Amino acid sequence: MDDARKIKRTATGTCPVSRAEDGIWQVRGYAEARAVLRAHDTVQAGLGIETVEKTPAKIRRPVLYRDGPEHREHRRQTARYFTPRRVDEHYRGLMADIAERHLAGLRAGGSAELSDLSFGMAIDVACAVIGLTESKPGIRRRLERFFPEKFGRPGFTSLSGLYWMGRQIQSWGSIYLSDVRPAVRPRRREPRDDLISHLIAEGCTDAEILGECLTFAAAGMVTTREFICVAAWQLFSDETLLKRYREAEEPERLAILHELLRLDPAVARLRRRTTAELELPGDVTIPAGEVVELLVDEANADERAVGAEPLSACPGRSLDGGAGPAVLAFGDGPHRCPGAGIAILETDVFLTRLFALPGIRRATAPRVGFKDAIGGYEIRGLTVTTG
Ligand code: HEM
Repeated sequence: MDDARKIKRTATGTCPVSRAEDGIWQVRGYAEARAVLRAHDTVQAGLGIETVEKTPAKIRRPVLYRDGPEHREHRRQTARYFTPRRVDEHYRGLMADIAERHLAGLRAGGSAELSDLSFGMAIDVACAVIGLTESKPGIRRRLERFFPEKFGRPGFTSLSGLYWMGRQIQSWGSIYLSDVRPAVRPRRREPRDDLISHLIAEGCTDAEILGECLTFAAAGMVTTREFICVAAWQLFSDETLLKRYREAEEPERLAILHELLRLDPAVARLRRRTTAELELPGDVTIPAGEVVELLVDEANADERAVGAEPLSACPGRSLDGGAGPAVLAFGDGPHRCPGAGIAILETDVFLTRLFALPGIRRATAPRVGFKDAIGGYEIRGLTVTTG
């Protein structure tokens, strides 16, 4: 079978729903996974929830870790920052300027590491959406330090634990002092039309705004950084697809990008805990209080939903069951990614300019790292050159 994925993953089974030895339910069927994500009797159980659970109860949790009516109300109130119209009218021009700025270095120097360019792009776009626009120089270094390639476990009982504890506190502190506080202060005096101003109007404290900004950094910047790299890698290695991408109008280019994200989802492990019995298609009932893991890469390749040759790149393929073009790569239900339209457009704005550079080619083979907890990947060492 043709396998166009750049991130090679092994299927964990064939059954749409099963229960692993550790008691965690695993869902790999599309219809079943979507039913879990759309269910209201569940709460977030993945993407770093353990860190958030340690924070005092009186601190309001960031959007990703809230559930129920208050979460839905927050999503309803902030939806205006993410509508297609807003993306088109407010962010499109900005994305073009940001892409030009980051590609200027490549134009001048002749080569660059793609993950540096894509991180710069993803940071600047997400910062504009959030309202983090008064940062001191060095935001990228601060974020790199906050999301290192390798994590150690913080704690008081070993030298390494103490090192990671100190490092975590220092990272939070530096992002607060250099990025969040300088953005919050002027907006407390005079609100603007952005997310931070909305959070201030809601009565959020600086600590709560910091938590929300860091959630956006993880959910919006880190994911988009990796997706831009994987999509470029795909296109560099498939001449026919690249030709099609270069010649296509925007809607077809976006369809190509959605299909590439379906194949290589940047977040492939989502988790929920059931708060009541949950009935899934196929007569499966998951009891209350169970942890359910959604295997997004497998659900995205479920032939019942995406048709034959599920691992080949076939943009515009006909999808069953009302699936979106990236299937579950942006999640579904109440927590569905609000930034999906932003992520796809900024990737396109960046890649159309990258692939328009005369002589552009991939100079080195990238190395792939894995973030097992979220089923994510990290693409490093993909150097692009115009020489
Ligand atoms: C290719 C890039 C991206 C991918 C693959 C992605 C994927 C996802 C997924 C799978 C979720 C759902 C998590 C869950 O159900 O537990 C999510 C949530 C979220 N994403 Fe994205 N995302 C991307 C880009 C962005 C961007 C650009 C932004 C903002 C500028 C953003 C902001 C968020 C936020 C705030 C949430 C939490 C929503 C909630 O819990 O209600 N994401 N994303």
